[in-house]
Amino acid sequence: MSQNYLKVKGLSKKFGNVVALNNFSLEVARGELVTLLGPSGCGKTTALRLVAGLERQDSGTIFLESRDLTLIPAHHRNMGMVFQAYSLFPNLTVAENVAFGLQMRKVDRSARIKKAHELLDLVGLDSQSARFPHQLSGGQQQRVALARALAFEPEILLLDEPLSALDAQVRSNLREEIRRLQLSLGTTTLFVTHDQEEAMSISDRVGVMNEGRLEQIDTPDDLYNHPKNVFIANFVGLMNQVSGTKTGKSVSVFGANLKVKNEVVTDGRVLVYIRPEFVELECTESDADAKVISRLFLGSVSQVICQLNDGTIVHSLLSSRMSAEFAPGIRVKIRVNEDEVLVSNG
Ligand SMILES: Nc1ncnc2c1ncn2[C@@H]1O[C@H](COP(=O)(O)OP(=O)(O)O)[C@@H](O)[C@H]1O
Ligand SMILES: [Mg+2]
Repeated sequence: MSQNYLKVKGLSKKFGNVVALNNFSLEVARGELVTLLGPSGCGKTTALRLVAGLERQDSGTIFLESRDLTLIPAHHRNMGMVFQAYSLFPNLTVAENVAFGLQMRKVDRSARIKKAHELLDLVGLDSQSARFPHQLSGGQQQRVALARALAFEPEILLLDEPLSALDAQVRSNLREEIRRLQLSLGTTTLFVTHDQEEAMSISDRVGVMNEGRLEQIDTPDDLYNHPKNVFIANFVGLMNQVSGTKTGKSVSVFGANLKVKNEVVTDGRVLVYIRPEFVELECTESDADAKVISRLFLGSVSQVICQLNDGTIVHSLLSSRMSAEFAPGIRVKIRVNEDEVLVSNG
C-alpha cells in the first residue's frame, strides 16, 4: 500500500511546559486503518485533534494528498470524528443526529433523511431512528455516533477511544463491527486507543506512542514479533522478563545461550524478554528451574504460570492438551524455544 494519502510530518505541540507531541510523523494510505496506541498522556488525542484542525500545531505539517491542511479550519477539513462517549446531541433524535453533518453541508432534506436511514441500517439501528440518545444503551449511542461521522462521507474518520466507556462484551462486538464497516466502505481511518488488544485486533498498522513520540509503526504481526525496543515489547502482548547473563552477542538464560537482538546493552546481568509461546516446560524431579503455581485453561490453549527459584513469575502458553500435566505444585525445567531475544540492563 502506498502510504501517501494523509501525510503528517514533524508535528510538535506544547501546552505550557508540557510537550504533548514531539516531532511526530505519520503516513496513512487511502483506505487504511491505522491505530495510535500508547499509555494515557502520551499525546494520542493531541495528534488526532491536530489532524482534525481542532488544535493548531507549534510546528510541522499535515497534508491530505497534495493539499496542505495547516490553514484550513476544522469545519472545512471533511473529517468525521467519534469521541469516547456521550457526544450525541441530546435534543435531536437518532436520525436527526446522523443527518446533522449533512444539514451543515446544505444537503437537501429528502437526501438527508435517505442517507441517515442508510447509515443507521448499516450500523443495525434503523428501527431506533425516532428515539432520543438517552433512550439508547452506550453501545447503541456509539453506533449512532459512528453513523453520524460517516454520513457525509468523510475523507478521514478519526476515532478517539470510541469503545473505552463500554462493557467488555459490547466493546469487542463493536470493534469488529467498526472494522467490518471500515473495510466495506474503504474509509481511511485513524483510531486511537490505550488498549493493545483492541489496537492489534482491528488495525492494518499500529503506531505505538510514548511521551509524544511515535516509537514504532508496523503491522500487528511485525510489532508483536519484531518489537524495536523493550518499551514496545512490554506494551504489546504478554512478555516475560527473566534474569540472564550477557557476554558479547549472546545471553545465557535457563542453561541455554541465545543470540542478543539489540546491541546497546552492557555485559553482565541483564533482563531477557521472552514471549509465553516460546517458554516450554518439562516435568522434572531434580534440576528444576521453577514450580507451577497455576494453570489457566483458555480453551484450545492454556497458560501455565510458574515461579522461578528467585521469585520471578514466568508465563508459558501451551496447547491445552500438552499442558494438562502441569498442575500447581509440579516442578519444571524451562526451555526457551527461540534463538534470538531482546535484553535490557533492567
Ligand atoms: N488543553 C490542554 N492543556 C494542557 N495540557 C494538555 C492539554 N491537552 C493535552 N494536554 C497534555 O498533553 C499531554 C498529552 O495529552 P493527550 O494528547 O490528551 O494524551 P492521550 O490522549 O494519549 O492520553 C498530557 O500530558 C496532557 O496532560
Ligand atoms: Mg486521549
